[in-house]
Amino acid sequence: MAAHGRRSLVTALQHTVLRRTFQTSSEAGVLQRLPSFYESTIEEYAQREQHGMTLGQLKKFGKSRFADKDKATKRLLQSARFVQRELPIRLARRLMDLQALPHIFVTNPHISSVYESYWSAFEELRLLPESRTLDDEATLSSVLERLVEDHSAVITRLAIGLREVREKPIVGRMIDMDRFLDDMLTSRVARRILAENHIAFHRAVKAHHQEGGSDDDGDDDDFVGVVNTRLRVKAAIESAAEQATDACARALGEAPRIEVSCSDSLLLSYVPVHLHYVLVEVLKNSCRATVEQARNERGKLAPVEVRVRKDKAQGITNMLVLDEGSGLREDEVDRAFTYGWTTAIQPRPRQSSMLDAIGGDGGGVGTNAALLSGDEAPLAGLGFGLPLSRLYCRYFGGDLKVLPVGLECGTAALIRFRHLSSDTQLYAPL
Ligand SMILES: Nc1ncnc2c1ncn2[C@@H]1O[C@H](COP(=O)(O)OP(=O)(O)O)[C@@H](O)[C@H]1O
Ligand SMILES: [Mg+2]
Repeated sequence: MAAHGRRSLVTALQHTVLRRTFQTSSEAGVLQRLPSFYESTIEEYAQREQHGMTLGQLKKFGKSRFADKDKATKRLLQSARFVQRELPIRLARRLMDLQALPHIFVTNPHISSVYESYWSAFEELRLLPESRTLDDEATLSSVLERLVEDHSAVITRLAIGLREVREKPIVGRMIDMDRFLDDMLTSRVARRILAENHIAFHRAVKAHHQEGGSDDDGDDDDFVGVVNTRLRVKAAIESAAEQATDACARALGEAPRIEVSCSDSLLLSYVPVHLHYVLVEVLKNSCRATVEQARNERGKLAPVEVRVRKDKAQGITNMLVLDEGSGLREDEVDRAFTYGWTTAIQPRPRQSSMLDAIGGDGGGVGTNAALLSGDEAPLAGLGFGLPLSRLYCRYFGGDLKVLPVGLECGTAALIRFRHLSSDTQLYAPL
């Protein structure tokens, strides 16, 4: 896009955001001047270097927290300054990506609300005082907690905004959003781990100080930030299976049995929320396909199988999910990994009910729960389950593949989780 064209788009975006901040006419002058100021601030941050951190480096932080109080405090402040430096840079890059989108996206209320929430997070973090004292750090941690919470609706907003733009004749077909969303969401995974690791560190140090510095922190010994270094695989699959069958039974009135073949003693070093998300999404798909197939054939529900093998030499745990559901055609496999592609029957809500759905926790299209796999996660509908699950797997060097066994013969999904080791990069720069 030409520089001038981009500038006017940026200005339009900033105006939308700023208009909500500056309401009175005396502030109109501010409105005129601020967009270009913020545009150059965003650009300046976006050009700064990003820094990663390996699990091994994070472990050293964790260990020190229990050595002595002063050292723990020092490390906590270091961690705070690291997060404060990194997050605005990463947010600035995504703001620039959003600015570069075609105009039709920018004017969509859902996409512009994503821009708005990124922009206000960028501003808030950038303007916080650098963490020099425990009070500064406590303020930062509470801001991070709130931002993680506020931003949980982002994926749903992106999904709905994308769907609305795609539905436009001509334009919709011209846009390939997959690459854009992959970058957007990979960056989001990194930012969340960054923020949540610090929040976990903050809580651990606080608890330790309150307990008078005892070394006994029980089960938490298994955790380094958000990574569980001794995650019990079988229990994790069973919990995901329960959530998937519950969602299926709620939506379709019945659900197949899920048979798990996995050793009780199998452990994995991984981020539990990622593993849970992927398993719930893949299992929900299998459950839905199984029920649909049984209804087509007026037959019984075939069980869904999960087989697990740890490949120690490769540092991978493979999970094979087999169903005898309605299946996918060969040519549908790639499309199934396109953001927004779904065969679920969708209610066609009007614009306003789409908006109502955001932030709601009921079923149907466009709820947060669909993507966050909360307790009330809908069975299907946004078409984000497979592409986002694959993104989570690939983030740490694993993968997700779907292999059609044959139409009406079922599907095999192969999930590969790469074990997290000391060398694993936690915050992929992007
Ligand atoms: N195990 C499966 N059997 C048959 N079809 C599947 C299976 N898994 C995925 N699909 C197809 O891929 C589509 C996209 O899946 P997904 O990304 O999870 O989105 P959603 O479940 O919201 O539709 C599904 O709507 C379905 O048509
Ligand atoms: Mg799904």
